[in-house]
Amino acid sequence: MPDIVSVRDLDKTYAGGFRALKSVSLGIRQGEILALLGPNGAGKTTLISTICGITTPTSGSVEVAGHDVVRDYRAARQLIGLVPQEINLEPFEKVINTVRFSRGLFGRRRDDAHVESVLRQLSLWDKRDSKTVELSGGMKRRVLIAKALAHEPRVLFLDEPTAGVDVDFRRDMWETVRRLQADGVTIILTTHYIEEAEAIADRIGVIARGEILLVEEKDSLMRRLGRKEMRLDLHEPIAAVPDSLSGYKLQRSDEGGALIYTYDTSAERTGIARLFSDLTAAGLRLRDVQTSQSSLEEIFVDLVRDGQ
Ligand SMILES: Nc1ncnc2c1ncn2[C@@H]1O[C@H](COP(=O)(O)OP(=O)(O)OP(=O)(O)O)[C@@H](O)[C@H]1O
Ligand SMILES: [Mg+2]
Repeated sequence: MPDIVSVRDLDKTYAGGFRALKSVSLGIRQGEILALLGPNGAGKTTLISTICGITTPTSGSVEVAGHDVVRDYRAARQLIGLVPQEINLEPFEKVINTVRFSRGLFGRRRDDAHVESVLRQLSLWDKRDSKTVELSGGMKRRVLIAKALAHEPRVLFLDEPTAGVDVDFRRDMWETVRRLQADGVTIILTTHYIEEAEAIADRIGVIARGEILLVEEKDSLMRRLGRKEMRLDLHEPIAAVPDSLSGYKLQRSDEGGALIYTYDTSAERTGIARLFSDLTAAGLRLRDVQTSQSSLEEIFVDLVRDGQ
């Protein structure tokens, strides 16, 4: 799939002198769900705001479907919907008017059928005549999404859409995001929740201290996650791995006192049973066996900690 958003060498230094984005380059593929994971203050909101043309970059460029977000702001902005992290609704306005108004802001002709379908999709139709101040926090978040969808954007940015909402709402939100993707909308969301990224993203990006540390297919990350290590402590240290065991790609550890076997838990055969019988045949006796697994959380924590 071609990239619908291209971010090149984006830098943002705020007026106070803080450099929040450091030469960020990123391609967002048409039709994908990309999750940006990162700790507080990593630069997620700054990145999204700059892509949406709300924050001016210090240097670098962003194009949305070929439109530069600074030089060609209106055309780029029309293609984008943004659900901000902070709830910023007009308290005494009715839900339906809030959504209609938002459509008008982008120069779109009034279309009550579209507004109705957006409100229905977000289970807000029954609340259309309520004032936004009367809604619960979760419903207000849905109104923000409805507003962002009012002008039929092709790319939707959700800045922490499920922060502080309950489990049911989170699942509803994931369902909504998947439906939007099925309708052809490209989705970028930021989150602190690793399981959220696991549940819905096609690709996962990790951002820390203003830098993108990794962008990778979720499936390949999960395969890494599926990788397990088995540590085999030996009774007697060995100087080299016997030739008869060369097929297992064992690594010597602790000066030959232990062997490390890496295997894939998702593979049909882990090779463990055969390894044990081959170890015995090679005359090696085991003192202890331990397994460990790298999780996405560990990968994430290590990535974010490194270089601090
Ligand atoms: N308007 C601003 N002026 C000065 N510094 C800012 C401004 N907005 C953000 N920053 C700083 O830039 C850094 C990145 O902030 P940003 O809001 O992009 O992080 P974030 O990844 O969205 O964090 P969170 O997970 O808490 O939402 C932070 O150190 C923040 O203090
Ligand atoms: Mg933020």
